[in-house]
Amino acid sequence: MVIDRLKVGVAFNTYEPFIYRKERVSEDSLAKVAEVVCETLNQAGLEATLIPLQRSMFNFLRRIKELDAEVIVNLCEGFFGKPQWESNVAAVMEVLHIPFTGNGSRTLALCQDKHQAKAILSSFNLPVAPSQLITSADEMVDLRFPLIVKPNSEDASLGVHPESVVYDREALAAQVKRVIETYSQPALVEEFIDGREFNVAVLENEEIKALPVSEIDFSAMPEGYPRICSYEAKWYPDHILYQATPPICPAPIDDELREKLQTLAITAFKVMGCRDYARVDFRMNNKGEIFILEVNPNPDISLDAGYARALKAAGIDYAEFWIMMIQNALKRKITDASTNGKR
Ligand SMILES: Nc1ncnc2c1ncn2[C@@H]1O[C@H](COP(=O)(O)OP(=O)(O)O)[C@@H](O)[C@H]1O
Ligand SMILES: [Mg+2]
Repeated sequence: MVIDRLKVGVAFNTYEPFIYRKERVSEDSLAKVAEVVCETLNQAGLEATLIPLQRSMFNFLRRIKELDAEVIVNLCEGFFGKPQWESNVAAVMEVLHIPFTGNGSRTLALCQDKHQAKAILSSFNLPVAPSQLITSADEMVDLRFPLIVKPNSEDASLGVHPESVVYDREALAAQVKRVIETYSQPALVEEFIDGREFNVAVLENEEIKALPVSEIDFSAMPEGYPRICSYEAKWYPDHILYQATPPICPAPIDDELREKLQTLAITAFKVMGCRDYARVDFRMNNKGEIFILEVNPNPDISLDAGYARALKAAGIDYAEFWIMMIQNALKRKITDASTNGKR
């Protein structure tokens, strides 16, 4: 496949204020990632151009057309301040036959709804933590404390803070109320798995393979804080919780655990209908039981985030990775035209 001088659009959504969302670091960080990806592709001999998705979908599509882009590197994580519209952006490109990298709209939509995604994983006998979807603070919860309360359809630890881990009914009701009111959506209340956290990056390139496992090292977590990757821990480099949650890749684990995590990650990838790339997050309790927290079909792909770290540990160059993804997208274009493609 000839990719030299291939016209590539690097699409990303920009920050747009939305009713309930004040947080904007993830969009600001996405704009920087898009620049890096664009630069990487240009250095590799492709003709890449940034295509920001702002308020108007029409302008975005016009830009793709004007540039005559042959493929889109789709970094969009939402639209108009709504992460829940991430899948709609992919769906628009699908119906317009615009080839793009990364997961399709169906998988993006399924994984965005944590409760539904867990139901699918569990129907395939994959281990997930017991949980309940709650729509009002006075609803009864039949789960064992401690619990964690999170918005059901957000990403990037949005709405997850140290106080999200609760030890009694009073705190539970307060957190459920906060999540429902702040994020205008149901709260997912889940049993808190106090233990190690692992991430497994999965890559599809002819075959589907798991990259080296990464672990979040909670050993420096200050006294009194739950061991979680909260919003503060993910987004504020100067924050004590950020500094107390360094990732280690490859994780210091034995072969048996590594193989178990990688096999589960590949199965979860397939079950959710993923393609190209995704990251599967796990927790393990002190009995060694493993639970899938979630499948991220559009993980943070910046150079300093987990996926790129796993690529590096696997000896795969960032440019090489993007070229593989572009080739996958172009191959799908051919398959879709001839078979009305199933994914
Ligand atoms: N059931 C749980 N047990 C322990 N920690 C959890 C649990 N659910 C979430 N967390 C912590 O909260 C973080 C964010 O939760 P996650 O479900 O991955 O949401 P997001 O989509 O925002 O990343 C996780 O990385 C983990 O540290
Ligand atoms: Mg997560």
